[in-house]
Amino acid sequence: MERAVVTGAGSGLGAALCEVLAARGAKVIAADIDLASARATAERCGRRAHAVECDVADLAAVQRLAAETERLIGGVDLVVNNAGVAVVGQIGEVPIEDWRWIIDINIGGVVHGCHVFAPQLRAQKHGHILNVASAAGLISMPTMAPYNMTKAAVVALSETLFADLSGDGVGVSVLCPSFFPTNLTRSPRTSTDTKLHGAAMRLLADSTWTAERVARAALAGVEAGELYIAPQLDIGLAWRFKRLAPTTFQRLSKLAAKLMIRG
Ligand SMILES: NC(=O)c1ccc[n+]([C@@H]2O[C@H](COP(=O)([O-])OP(=O)(O)OC[C@H]3O[C@@H](n4cnc5c(N)ncnc54)[C@H](O)[C@@H]3O)[C@@H](O)[C@H]2O)c1
Repeated sequence: MERAVVTGAGSGLGAALCEVLAARGAKVIAADIDLASARATAERCGRRAHAVECDVADLAAVQRLAAETERLIGGVDLVVNNAGVAVVGQIGEVPIEDWRWIIDINIGGVVHGCHVFAPQLRAQKHGHILNVASAAGLISMPTMAPYNMTKAAVVALSETLFADLSGDGVGVSVLCPSFFPTNLTRSPRTSTDTKLHGAAMRLLADSTWTAERVARAALAGVEAGELYIAPQLDIGLAWRFKRLAPTTFQRLSKLAAKLMIRG
């Protein structure tokens, strides 16, 4: 992949993807709502990387990102719709404005990225879209309804695009990792419940996977043309178990969630 645009590139997985791509010689656009963090990523990537400010929830901003990508690196071969936020909690307790916030970014952002870049890739008859969902898009853990719902939507969109764009030379993958340490749960909007927020922070911190390892697995999946990229073995197993015994899986997941929240 010679030219890549990555959203949410100022931190965590987005930053790691930019760095791995740049180290392989790609020209990279590091886009983030936080321009300073995108600039820091681009600086770490070297001369062939550029930072662009972009709020993925804003369609006009994503259209400007496409225009900037064309101007700065002459087009794109890999589009990574990575920007995302986390909101967890019980239905009725999560503030409705936090539901809207996560829907606008996690679903709206990916829709905007696909809406703007897919026609371009289709017209040039090559390229790849990597949508970053989560294991939460494949298995619905209790107390995580807003996050689960948005990530399941990203899985559904990616599955549809995979079929719609096949034959046009454009690949589509959806990345579904479980926890790894980043700044994802640092926002106070992640949860109004301190116990739940603490459990979410612990799950990320305790993972043996790094953002760089997830980034490398994601790019290997893209190169192999995989639709679903679920790098961690436990998620692959849990996903298979859910499909075999969905109701039992949901009952057992309630028990597992109780244990995790207790710590
Ligand atoms: N960390 C995990 O355990 C984990 C697991 C599965 C999936 N993911 C997914 O990986 C992706 C990256 O998350 P991360 O863990 O690296 O988190 P992170 O918080 O470290 O990085 C997210 C980046 O997205 C940016 N961002 C937030 N809102 C934005 C917007 N509206 N427009 C543009 N940029 C925006 C932030 O400024 C930040 O730089 C997300 O989609 C997340 O859901 C993370």
